[in-house]
Amino acid sequence: MSDDRTTDPSIVHERRILLHGGAALAGLALAPAMTLPAFAQRPLPKVPYVTTPQDIVDRMLSMAKVGRDDVVYDLGCGDGRIVISAARRYGARGVGIDLDPERIREANANARSAGVQDRVRFRQADLFKTDFSPATVVMLYLLFEVNLQLMPQLWRQLRVGARVVSHDFHMGAQWPPEQIVRMRDKTLYAWTITEELKQELAQMRSAKP
Ligand SMILES: C[S@@+](CC[C@H](N)C(=O)[O-])C[C@H]1O[C@@H](n2cnc3c(N)ncnc32)[C@H](O)[C@@H]1O
Repeated sequence: MSDDRTTDPSIVHERRILLHGGAALAGLALAPAMTLPAFAQRPLPKVPYVTTPQDIVDRMLSMAKVGRDDVVYDLGCGDGRIVISAARRYGARGVGIDLDPERIREANANARSAGVQDRVRFRQADLFKTDFSPATVVMLYLLFEVNLQLMPQLWRQLRVGARVVSHDFHMGAQWPPEQIVRMRDKTLYAWTITEELKQELAQMRSAKP
């Protein structure tokens, strides 16, 4: 597996801008509770390929309380390390989705090396066009604006009780995380899909003109 490259200053700088984008967050905080953020409709920034360090992967899996019965999706899976770790450590099943075919080739090779190829699958696809409803756990390492655009899809597709964990990027004021963990320069966020979210989504949809 490739080395962690999260110390690349340009990426770290870009992340800080997006994560601490005060204007964006302030706008969200002022948004009416039942609307989707307006800027979620704008063209999205490209998500760079940066891997999650293994100890952070392990912490993300423990935050999600991954177990044998879980189906772990990584939306933007890179070299597959998160779903491979979920299968290897916990016996979970996993699916990784990535736009880049090279990442998918690499992830399949890594799954074979780890001996978990029967428990994981990797698919080249756009995460926004993917049915991830079988997931009981979704892992994300994307960008703040991408998370915001994905949020209604997560609420719609995932069943009540599914967990979502995101490396470094939250979902704004409309979906505050239940848990925040800081490790070195990293921040991890965790949410659970609840019945209330499903009801909120139904209200948003019925309020649409
Ligand atoms: C920051 S990397 C994270 C890789 C891996 N999840 C990890 O944590 O090590 C983001 C990944 O998302 C992929 N990606 C970006 N936009 C995507 C999209 N719309 N659909 C699927 N994959 C996407 C990129 O190709 C890249 O591999």
